[in-house]
Amino acid sequence: MLKPTLILATSALVFASGIAIAGGHGGNPAVKARKAHMQLYSHNLGILGGMAKGEIEYDADAASAAANNLASLSTLSQRSYWAPGTSNAELGEETRALPAIWEAGSKAGEIGGQLAEAAEALAAVAGDGQESLGPALGGVGQACGACHKAYRQENN
Ligand code: HEC
Repeated sequence: MLKPTLILATSALVFASGIAIAGGHGGNPAVKARKAHMQLYSHNLGILGGMAKGEIEYDADAASAAANNLASLSTLSQRSYWAPGTSNAELGEETRALPAIWEAGSKAGEIGGQLAEAAEALAAVAGDGQESLGPALGGVGQACGACHKAYRQENN
């Protein structure tokens, strides 16, 4: 007969392997993390873009919050998300990240720095009124676009 401690240990093991399976389901963790990060960019930028176009009513606090989020997100280390061996050449359709990101001469990190600067400039003015958003959003959109153009596979 199993001792209670052994039963506990056994069920903990079964539980832990259940988590491992759940975590492994749905693909490469680095790919999932960077896509999640990109979705957060997109969510916050969407609010600001909507306000700039007048599709969402301008609210200084909400605009500042979204812009501060963008600025914070753009300064987080993404080191572990862009793990070597996780390009679309290696993982196929699971990712649109092109191998050039990891190749010598890659400007991905530099563009990330430009995004951080543009997001900081946006955060500085986002609470100043609806008309301040458009010009400041330009720099952010440019950085997103530059990186996608060079390093993200086009949708086909
Ligand atoms: C340094 C390069 C870089 C910058 C800067 C960047 N992106 Fe991306 N983005 C990528 C790459 C590469 C992918 C493809 C990721 C993948 O499929 O693994 C991607 C994917 C995405 C996706 C799709 C995510 C998904 O779920 O598949 C969205 C949305 C996105 N980016 C939005 C943005 C926005 C908005 C900005 C600017 C605020 C931005 N990105 C800035 C490189 C970048």
